[in-house]
Amino acid sequence: MPFVRKEGRLVLQQAGQDIDILTLAQSESHPCYIYDGDDVLNRLKALKSSFDRPVSIHYAMKANHHPEILRRIAAAGYGVDTVSMGEVKKAMKCGFSADQVVLSGVGKTVAEIDFAIENQIKQINVESVPELQRIIHRSQALGKVASVAFRMNPDVDPKTHPYTSTGFRDNKFGMDQSFLPQLIRLVQDSQGAVRFMGLTNHIGSQIRYTDAFEEATEKTRRMLDHVLESGIPLSTFDIGGGLGIDYDQYDPNKDLAEIGDYGLKMSQALKGVDLEIMTEPGRVIVGRCGILVTEVQYVKEAPYKNFLICDSGMHDLIRPALYRAHHRVEPLQLKSGETKIYDVVGPICESADVLGYDRRFEGVEQGDWLAVFDAGAYGAVMASSYNLHEPAKEIVFFDGKAY
Ligand code: LLP
Repeated sequence: MPFVRKEGRLVLQQAGQDIDILTLAQSESHPCYIYDGDDVLNRLKALKSSFDRPVSIHYAMKANHHPEILRRIAAAGYGVDTVSMGEVKKAMKCGFSADQVVLSGVGKTVAEIDFAIENQIKQINVESVPELQRIIHRSQALGKVASVAFRMNPDVDPKTHPYTSTGFRDNKFGMDQSFLPQLIRLVQDSQGAVRFMGLTNHIGSQIRYTDAFEEATEKTRRMLDHVLESGIPLSTFDIGGGLGIDYDQYDPNKDLAEIGDYGLKMSQALKGVDLEIMTEPGRVIVGRCGILVTEVQYVKEAPYKNFLICDSGMHDLIRPALYRAHHRVEPLQLKSGETKIYDVVGPICESADVLGYDRRFEGVEQGDWLAVFDAGAYGAVMASSYNLHEPAKEIVFFDGKAY
């Protein structure tokens, strides 16, 4: 269980120890991300065992690419989903072998494709006809065979934020099924330059409405059957990532139940598919494992609004500013005193620089430290250098030891 309260203080319980977060934050004296690495591995295990059949998990490293987290995931035998040459290189540096790497992304450059082919990665998820043409051309030039899967767009509404929806027909991602005949023809005409592995979809992120996954799987499965019926042998079926978490509250048992439900639903939807099942989860693995800690610099009580002005903000965690995403914010040490409502804001010269709107705090004072919860996914990786504040350090704990 990642972070718990002990006598009002937030602690990380690992290896039979209580790691006191306030002591750690004060010794760093700067905003930092603190991750529970053990929780990451536990959640991967939970996801794997939630399926009633073998499943190849490829962790979507775009969510969090702390090197020690990647090293542990690789060492535990999981694969990785990447979206750039930078990510492929980092994954391989952290111990993933090429045959555990999937490369996704709509805008792959020649250099990225060449790198993937040269290294013979497991699978390139193709997002358009011109991309397949480019891959075939580069495979022929390099004299090597590229393994490709086609990312289909099943036209499903995942009922998530529009910025994180990707499987709707008007999104830039994936391909409509009407492209399949053309794609297959290109493969057949390529004289063995590409190996057609299978189909894939990824309909979006922070999806809480899990029927959408079933619908997407069913639709993509129909396309898959169509390909198999035409006598083309395939080896993989990749169901993407996207499972969300409940940012409003945290109950570890409920989380595990939700992961279990997802695995069960997907297992049902995949009954009879006799291929390697691949999945690319990010947030559900690392979202819960991280907090961002920040010190209150000023308590600013104005006639119309109260603010807690902190030393961290949208430069460290952009999700609230970009998506109006909700993250729980709490003091590292609970206090008693007058209760007031505050906007928790950062130092950046933008009114969007908010970590939490209208939050209730008791007895809060200058110099208090706060935790922004569920910041393990799409937190540090989306940080920017805007206003040139020193970036938040990232500390991960495995088995009671800090890295
Ligand atoms: N596979 C592909 C091809 C993806 O594009 C993504 C995420 C994933 C897997 C992993 O999705 P997950 O399981 O983490 O939902 N910055 C946004 C999220 C963007 C997700 C982009 N793609 C946020 O902070 O909510």
